[in-house]
Amino acid sequence: MFLEFFESKGHLAMKSFSLVPHNDNSLLLINSGMAPLKPYFTGQEIPPRRRVTTCQKCIRTGDIENIGKTARHGTFFEMLGNFSFGDYFKTEAIHWSWEFLTEVVGLDPERLYPSVYLDDDEAFRIWNEEIGIPADRIFRFGKEDNFWEHGAGPCGPCSEIYYDRGEKYGCGKPGCTVGCECDRYIEVWNNVFTQFENDGHGNYTELVQKNIDTGMGLERLAVVVQDVDSLFTVDTNKALLDAVCELAHTEYQAAHKTDVSLRIIADHIKSCTFMISDGIMPSNEGRGYVLRRLLRRAARHGRLLGIEGRFMAELSKAVIELSKDGYPELEEKKPMILKVLAEEEEKFNKTIDQGLAILGEMEAEMEKKGETVLSGDNAFKLYDTYGFPLDLTIEILEEKNMTVDEEGFQAAMKEQREKARAARKTTNYMGADVTVYQSIPAEITTDFVGYDRLVHDSEITVLTTESEIVEALTDGQHGTILVKETPFYATMGGQTGDTGVITGAGGSFVVEDTIHLQGGKVGHVGYMASGMLTVGETVTMKVSESARRSTEKNHSATHLLQKALRMVLGEHVEQAGSLVTPDRLRFDFTHFSAMTAEELKKVEELVNQEIQAGLDVVTQEMSLDEAKKTGAMALFGEKYGEKVRVVKMGDFSTELCGGTHVGNTGTIHAFKIVSEAGIAAGVRRIEALTGEGLMAYYHKTEEELHEAAHAAKTTPADLKSKIEAMMAEIKALQAENDKLKSKLAKESLGDVMDQVKEIHGVKVLAAKVSDADMNGLRSLGDQLKEKLGEGVIVLASVQGDKVNLMATATDAAQKQGAHAGNLIKAIAALVGGGGGGRPGMAQAGGKNPAGVDSALEKAYETAAQQLHD
Ligand code: ALA
Repeated sequence: MFLEFFESKGHLAMKSFSLVPHNDNSLLLINSGMAPLKPYFTGQEIPPRRRVTTCQKCIRTGDIENIGKTARHGTFFEMLGNFSFGDYFKTEAIHWSWEFLTEVVGLDPERLYPSVYLDDDEAFRIWNEEIGIPADRIFRFGKEDNFWEHGAGPCGPCSEIYYDRGEKYGCGKPGCTVGCECDRYIEVWNNVFTQFENDGHGNYTELVQKNIDTGMGLERLAVVVQDVDSLFTVDTNKALLDAVCELAHTEYQAAHKTDVSLRIIADHIKSCTFMISDGIMPSNEGRGYVLRRLLRRAARHGRLLGIEGRFMAELSKAVIELSKDGYPELEEKKPMILKVLAEEEEKFNKTIDQGLAILGEMEAEMEKKGETVLSGDNAFKLYDTYGFPLDLTIEILEEKNMTVDEEGFQAAMKEQREKARAARKTTNYMGADVTVYQSIPAEITTDFVGYDRLVHDSEITVLTTESEIVEALTDGQHGTILVKETPFYATMGGQTGDTGVITGAGGSFVVEDTIHLQGGKVGHVGYMASGMLTVGETVTMKVSESARRSTEKNHSATHLLQKALRMVLGEHVEQAGSLVTPDRLRFDFTHFSAMTAEELKKVEELVNQEIQAGLDVVTQEMSLDEAKKTGAMALFGEKYGEKVRVVKMGDFSTELCGGTHVGNTGTIHAFKIVSEAGIAAGVRRIEALTGEGLMAYYHKTEEELHEAAHAAKTTPADLKSKIEAMMAEIKALQAENDKLKSKLAKESLGDVMDQVKEIHGVKVLAAKVSDADMNGLRSLGDQLKEKLGEGVIVLASVQGDKVNLMATATDAAQKQGAHAGNLIKAIAALVGGGGGGRPGMAQAGGKNPAGVDSALEKAYETAAQQLHD
């Protein structure tokens, strides 16, 4: 009814999205109708229509420990919603919610009460004036109730509609009205006026477009319409509850304790079934851990009810039956759902009794010591060894008025994670734990069918995450896919593994690398770009064609290169290593000296000749003996099987090789060696390019040349002569510069001669020179001494914020008492420094340029004190 109603208002009805969020790290699980539509609200993506309506499966596990204790909440629910992406706004949203509830569903308008956000006068006016609700029946609530947001993303003020279920559900307290905590007035509809974006850190920005996001819990509406006491007694949920009762040989609403367990099982099995149908697998992380916690909590409550053995898979069948019309994926994935549930329950059953016994001992120990808090280490032991999620331990102890040191638990967990991480570093293989691949059954193998095709359909045999073998991989997860037959070449013989895409009915996986695993298996390593893939389904495997073709050119060129090297350098050339990627090739070989320019040129010419000759590349399988008779080059020291593959390029090259190649050498286009160097004693390495890689190299070189020419304001053709001219110009300028400098220095000498004073017949000069370093000062001092004949010279210069001081006294001046070292000592403090020296020569540095003038004045004074007749 809901979807049809909104279709009649121009909305596009879309299927429920997966519970696994797509490209959204702010959420573990889809928790509202709007969550999968976030990019449409923010305008990042264009919606298929600006009006959309959905019935979305949702899971909220925020207060998991309280779920079941009352009948108020469940973890799973379906949310009906109508959405406007920058199309209609408040008026239509309010009118249509009212119309649907009163006219389509037929709720009594007298029992409905709207609420608005504190200062949302516009919404108030629409309710009051347009819908005709008296002002005293419209409630204004604050941020807590009437501002909707969930994690990062679009959010805004909202207007909710409450339904009065009558006195029989009320608390009866005076003042009980809309907003009361009791079960009488319940919200059935939420109109959110989405106009802000929360960045996840509480910073709000106004969205460019104003949107509508509405939500109505399907089960809640059913509670109202069916007039039942809670979510759990709505017909569909009741049927499920009855199935649990039957298994447990008990009845609902016979005793509080059994009711709690019944509700927990009924609710959790529903969430678990839906989660698995969307490819979520039990694990110790993220959403997989949410699933594991729900499953184990339900399993334990099954025990409390006295249910023996496994029961979750059986109950799951009831969930599937009840919901498969709306969610066909439940039926489609039924075998997988039942298998995963059974395996996970089995795993837990194996340890739960032991765990409960150990916990019992821990409790007894605590009682003896009069303690009520279980240590973090003990809680962690239960988690690690017996698979008890922390909230399960908390719940069990709570029943006995005991608690858990949660911080201590987290600390123990952190310590173990760090240890595991350190261990993984040493055992890690292509990003996955080695043990994952080792636990794949030996009989599973992969056939390579990719010599002559790049697209192939095959069946998934194994899926793994980085740490576990799983039944499904979902959106964003990293993992490895194994199939029966693959066109993807796995890294071997120097040729790197193919990349590409694996697509199934419900999702696609990006292959970043293809590797050989032990026992004839090929692993496609990468990540889920969207949706999910499950074991057993047939998928289309598509190798990235351009990358494969480029790799093939490089690989075939490597064969030509090896032969050419033997022809030019000699038969001692053996392959010592090789790497063939889409971008380039690298070939290591035995040879005892650096190759000469001539040899390199010769090798390059030979290879290019054979490329131009357009040799057909023929591959053939034969026995090793036959292959040897053809004279095929084999890898030195390599062990070959009975059957080998021989790759022949005309009469030029014959090699044993399992790699992929061009059909004709002409396809390689061209070959260019870009480097040759020694990498070990007697081993040389050549790096070379072909085809597109070579073109890219030329383009890059050309670009650099153009940039250089541009910088030199000329053309590439004239660049060389331009550079020569520039070098000549620089040389001339430098000579001129030197000349000017010495001229300047001489001129400044002329100036300072005016400052010479005669003290007791000795010439004393204290002067400032511009921008000279200590060496400059000393050579200037020498020149001045020549001019003065005999005397005392003090020079100061400032360089940036540094001061240089130099003093010198001739022999005759010294005889009359002059002492350069003491003189410097006396004046250095004035420039913020220190120094000293011999009677004839002294120097000092300082940090205070402002003190230079007074230092020079003081120099005359000091000289006057030193000198005598
Ligand atoms: N997104 C809104 C809610 O969940 C409609 O209540």
